[in-house]
This record gives sequence, C-alpha cells and structure tokens, in this order.
Amino acid sequence: MDGVTDVIFRRVIAKAARPDVFFSEFTNAAAFFSDFGRQSTESRLAFLPDEQPLVAQIWGTNPDHFAFMAQALAKKGFAGIDINMGCPVKDVVKTGGGSALIEQPELVAKLISAAKQGGLPVSVKTRIGFKTKKTDEWISFLLRQDLAALTVHGRTQKQMSKVPADWDEVAKAVKLRNNIAPQTLIIGNGDVTTRADGLELAKKTGVDGIMIGRGVFANPFCFEIEQKMHSSQELQDLLNYHLNLIENSEHIMPFAPLKRFFKIYIRDFDGANELRTKLMETKSITEVREILTKN
Ligand SMILES: Cc1cc2nc3c(=O)[nH]c(=O)nc-3n(C[C@H](O)[C@H](O)[C@H](O)COP(=O)(O)O)c2cc1C
Repeated sequence: MDGVTDVIFRRVIAKAARPDVFFSEFTNAAAFFSDFGRQSTESRLAFLPDEQPLVAQIWGTNPDHFAFMAQALAKKGFAGIDINMGCPVKDVVKTGGGSALIEQPELVAKLISAAKQGGLPVSVKTRIGFKTKKTDEWISFLLRQDLAALTVHGRTQKQMSKVPADWDEVAKAVKLRNNIAPQTLIIGNGDVTTRADGLELAKKTGVDGIMIGRGVFANPFCFEIEQKMHSSQELQDLLNYHLNLIENSEHIMPFAPLKRFFKIYIRDFDGANELRTKLMETKSITEVREILTKN
C-alpha cells in the first residue's frame, strides 16, 4: 500500500505475524525510467534479503518503461512483478494508469508482455470493472495473457471503497480461471481483516490466496495463524520497533509520514486518544520516545 508498506512497515508486520508473500508499494515505471525520477523510487523499492518472497508492484502506461524496469527489478532480486490495474485514485486514473487500464486491453497486453522481459513471474492486480462490473469480459481477457497470478479486488473503479467487496465476482474469476488458464493463481482481495476470515473465504470461493490491505491498520497481527488477543503494550512495543528501524535505516526517512502509523499502535486503552493527540504534535522521534516513556 502506497505510503504504508515500505521496507520499515513490512518489517514491523513480519515481526508481528508474517504473510506468505509481501508486495511493495506501487512504483511508477515512468519515474523509474528517468535518471532523475529513479532516485525518488529508491526507498519504495528498498528491501532486505529476508523479506522474500517479495513482489514489486509497478504502475504506468508505457511498455518501454515496463521492459526497462522489469529487467532492473530482476537484477535487484525481486521474486516477481505485479502490475497495478486497480488503483482508483483520480491522479492515477487521469494518466491512463491503474484502474483506467481496464478500458485499454490492447495496451494492457503490451504492458504485460513488456513486464515479462525481465524474466520474473508477472502478475496483475485489478478490479472487476471500471464504471460497471464486467468480470466475465475483463478477467477472461487477463487470463488469456498467461499470468503467474491475478489478484481480483471485488469492486469497480467507480465504487472506490464505498460498497462491500463483491466476493461472488471473485468466485466467478476462479471459475473463469479453471476454464481459461488453470496455471494462473487467483488471489482474492477486499475487506478481509484476518488470515482466518481469509481462509474461510478461500474455501467458499476457491481462490488460491488472499490479499489483506487495510486489515493491518486495525490489527498488525492480522496474518497470525492462530488469532490471539494482543495487549496495548504489545502494540506499543511494535511502535518502538518501528522507531528503531527508522533510526537505523540507511535511507533518510522523513518524520511526518510516521504520524499516520500512530493510530495503529496507540489504541484500545483508557487515555489512548489523548496520548495519540500528544504524539501528533511531535516533531522528532526523540520527542515521540519522551512522551512514550512518560506515559
Ligand atoms: C493507503 C492505501 C494505499 C494503497 N496503495 C495501494 C498500492 O500501492 N497498490 C495496490 O495494489 N493497492 C493499494 N491499495 C489498495 C489495497 O491494496 C486494497 O486493494 C484495498 O484497500 C482493498 O483491500 P482491503 O479491504 O484488504 O484493504 C491501497 C489502499 C490504501 C488504503
């Protein structure tokens, strides 16, 4: 997730309870293609050797950029490349990328074939339509592109996150896969908050895997195999771990983005709101630590 699942937060999640596969934040192929822009993508593509399997997610609209980036990602040691065809955000859609690709199958075929030039397994993450649902047509088209995996988020672009994800459509994608491309794994996505709930849905729909996104906000232990109760102290310990990782990072990490993580770690106890308010006023990790120690 953009602005969330960087190398630091993935380590926090790995410490709490590790998923079977990690995906990077989406990274723009046009930025990566230019010498100047590439620097800005560096922290998004940073990872540590013990994070494997780690898939790099890319987005863009230019096959030459995809081919160039795919080769570089293979050299960097990623386990696979995932192409974002699901992002509903206006700024992305107006470039023709993300979910806007749902309306451009000819370009999509070129992008997928360009991404394969790196030699890594290529997957796609997408929604079930742009303005309206068209699972049959769109998912069938993608399945004919010989993908290693296809993540299906059960909403259209227009639906953003406003309605519940439609898992009947995800199940439909599984049936299409069985007929068209038995070798392609189907990963279901949308509104799953724990591994246990994901496994139930996998049984019902036949998907091979479940992707959890926002579930980590409510519960960073959501990938746990046996769900346990976790104390507020355990959550604060994760925050301290997060701070340590930033301090020891070889990348320069700006302080402000850290604030969006406070609501993950500081919650569910008397005084949590007040403590979070104080933390939101801090300007440095030292200040954060002082407040946590006094609390
Ligand atoms: C802050 C934020 C950033 C996201 N960034 C990405 C991204 O970079 N790539 C992507 O495929 N999906 C991204 N998503 C979408 C999620 O991966 C996921 O598909 C969506 O939230 C629905 O699944 P969920 O209910 O498990 O969260 C993002 C979502 C949020 C809330």
